[in-house]
Amino acid sequence: MNTKVTIADVEFKNPVMTASGTFGSGMEYSDFVDLNKLGAVVTKGVANVPWPGNPVPRVAETYGGMLNAIGLQNPGIDVFIERDIPFLKKFDTKIIVNVCGKSVEDYLEVVERLGDEDVDMLEINVSCPNVKEGAIAFGQKADSLYNITSQIKGRAKQPVIMKLSPNVTDIGEMAKAAEAAGADAISLINTLTGMKIDVHRRTFVLANKTGGLSGPAIKPVAVRMVYQASHAVKIPVIGMGGIASAEDAVEFLLAGASAIAVGAMNFVNPYATVEIIEGIEAYMKKYGVRDIQELIGGVRE
Ligand SMILES: Cc1cc2nc3c(=O)[nH]c(=O)nc-3n(C[C@H](O)[C@H](O)[C@H](O)COP(=O)(O)O)c2cc1C
Repeated sequence: MNTKVTIADVEFKNPVMTASGTFGSGMEYSDFVDLNKLGAVVTKGVANVPWPGNPVPRVAETYGGMLNAIGLQNPGIDVFIERDIPFLKKFDTKIIVNVCGKSVEDYLEVVERLGDEDVDMLEINVSCPNVKEGAIAFGQKADSLYNITSQIKGRAKQPVIMKLSPNVTDIGEMAKAAEAAGADAISLINTLTGMKIDVHRRTFVLANKTGGLSGPAIKPVAVRMVYQASHAVKIPVIGMGGIASAEDAVEFLLAGASAIAVGAMNFVNPYATVEIIEGIEAYMKKYGVRDIQELIGGVRE
């Protein structure tokens, strides 16, 4: 049985990754999860300088999911290179570094710093709804996305994944803009902008007022967008949004994803990623699927 997938010439032992921001750099999880089993660890977003994140409260539970407005808190690229990369290098898994910024220059600085580091791919977050400047502004207009993608591609030494926002009218158009600018792959979806109001206190639950919705509640939206995006472009698609089980993961593969990422579910069940890897193998065995390629984009029309 073959579960290997290849994206931009990088070979992953299986298609299961961690979704950025839900797994740190794996340190907190390595007591529970054998990181060697994962297709890849996708790190929390890292910026050129440390970011403090947004004021609390910045997470809230919702039906079938959660809202977060962390605001991309991170220690900055210096600490990341010194602490997180050496930790991850100890494991036999691929390393995908998620990059955030407030200006094109911020992104380029991080991308250049990572050029000399032994990491496999870069995932560029142009879709976080929780930071006022930068980030999402680049991911909501096709021409801005094209511009930042081509500049990053001009400097990056590793293959580039552009992480797309679901908070757009036409996901196919955004996918095409990333592809036309040279992106090696796209990933989606980031969180959907949401809001929660405490009716007893008559105030917003999150200090930021709005937050990003993730978890099983968003899965049908994510599957639809992965299907549309993968039909709009030829580059590989990494799918995520509400994946909680192996069946969910297979659904994304059938919709057209070459790999998948597990996000909010890691908070509910720290073993989710490994259980999903085992569950995909069980599914393949049950249905006589010899090669995972048979599943990718395999939904019967
Ligand atoms: C607490 C939290 C932090 C996140 N931080 C990041 C981040 O730093 N960079 C990024 O690109 N996406 C970030 N995301 C988005 C996830 O990677 C993922 O795209 C989204 O949550 C949908 O997947 P899920 O429903 O499985 O969580 C974050 C999500 C959550 C819940």
